[in-house]
Amino acid sequence: MTMKAVILSGGSGARLAPLTNTITKQLLPVANKPTLFHILELIKEETPVTSISIVVSEDYGHQVKERILNSEYKKHFEFDFVFQDKPLGLAHAVQLTSMHMQNESFLMFLGDILINKGEIKKAYEQFTKNKPETLVILKEVEDPRPYGLAEVENGRVTKLVEKPQDPKSNLCLAGIYMFNPSIFYAIANIKPSYRNELEITDAVDFQISQGKKVEYYVIKSWWFDIGTPENMIKANEVALEIKKPDLQSEIKPTVKIKGTVTVEKNVLIENSEITGPVIIAKNSVIKGCKIGPNVSIGESVTLENIKIENSIIRENTRIHHFPETISNSIFGRNIELNFSGNHSVNYNGNKKVRYILGDDTKCSLL
Ligand code: DAU
Repeated sequence: MTMKAVILSGGSGARLAPLTNTITKQLLPVANKPTLFHILELIKEETPVTSISIVVSEDYGHQVKERILNSEYKKHFEFDFVFQDKPLGLAHAVQLTSMHMQNESFLMFLGDILINKGEIKKAYEQFTKNKPETLVILKEVEDPRPYGLAEVENGRVTKLVEKPQDPKSNLCLAGIYMFNPSIFYAIANIKPSYRNELEITDAVDFQISQGKKVEYYVIKSWWFDIGTPENMIKANEVALEIKKPDLQSEIKPTVKIKGTVTVEKNVLIENSEITGPVIIAKNSVIKGCKIGPNVSIGESVTLENIKIENSIIRENTRIHHFPETISNSIFGRNIELNFSGNHSVNYNGNKKVRYILGDDTKCSLL
């Protein structure tokens, strides 16, 4: 069976502000790689898809297009970019791609989802074997209220509800769907929801009400919606865990390394302790620091006399002499934090601080 794919990379990303004031959330890095690229990698490895439509917003569409067309994925896939004026809902976004789908089955992926390897392959096998109208991918969660929810019986989905107040199941819609082209008929038959969005949940629920075969696949291993800082930090932790150790720069005797650590080329580390999983991208400088576990450091970052754990630091950021342990934080690009004037610093103190800082933030102690 041939298949196309649609990735939704529009939306506003409000829950990740201020990080998303300058970049769309799907391009924010997890283990130093944009979520969108993690998704492209999975589609490449686990499906026969070679043609992908990417739905982008007016604000960040060109940014997404440029990053993708300059990436290695350009060699493997043929891309179309479809601009969506306003985030009017997932079904609205899919509807915009109907011209490109040309009556073929397609995989739809929300651009802010990270999932372990192997799951998409199994779901695809089920879709091609059973040929349902729609296959929804589900994940068991403790609290399904922030998600779409599925009620199931005897291998079929019996009802879908978007963000229910009173959930009747703990199976949430994981943001990955496989559709037969009949989904476009269902979308044409639904109305905007209470939040004024055309919901894909309602379109699939319409198919169920019409007696169509809607099947489900439940994800057995990890899955994340990276739409909030907390989820992004957890996803970073899991994505780092599956990396292999790789030291491409010289490690001096004053540096202690434990666990799975990746250090790219041209990185200078002195008098520091790195506890994996940690990744340090090229051209960075680390002096007198305790880094890890679960830390991703982007290109050309400078860190001096800081302790940091469970965090993401993007390119060109510089942090000097930070008194507390930085924990569960995300730093954007070109940030400068300098507390070197603070002489009462206790680097072994257990006090923890958390920051979510947008690009170009500057802060120093006078
Ligand atoms: O994370 C899974 C959940 O994703 C599902 O359980 C829900 O059923 C589904 O509605 C969705 O809920 P979210 O509230 O997380 O959706 P969000 O607004 O974050 O949008 C998901 C992705 O789709 C994101 O990459 C942005 C993109 N998007 C969103 C809208 C509303 C578009 O491209 N266009 C849009 O109009």
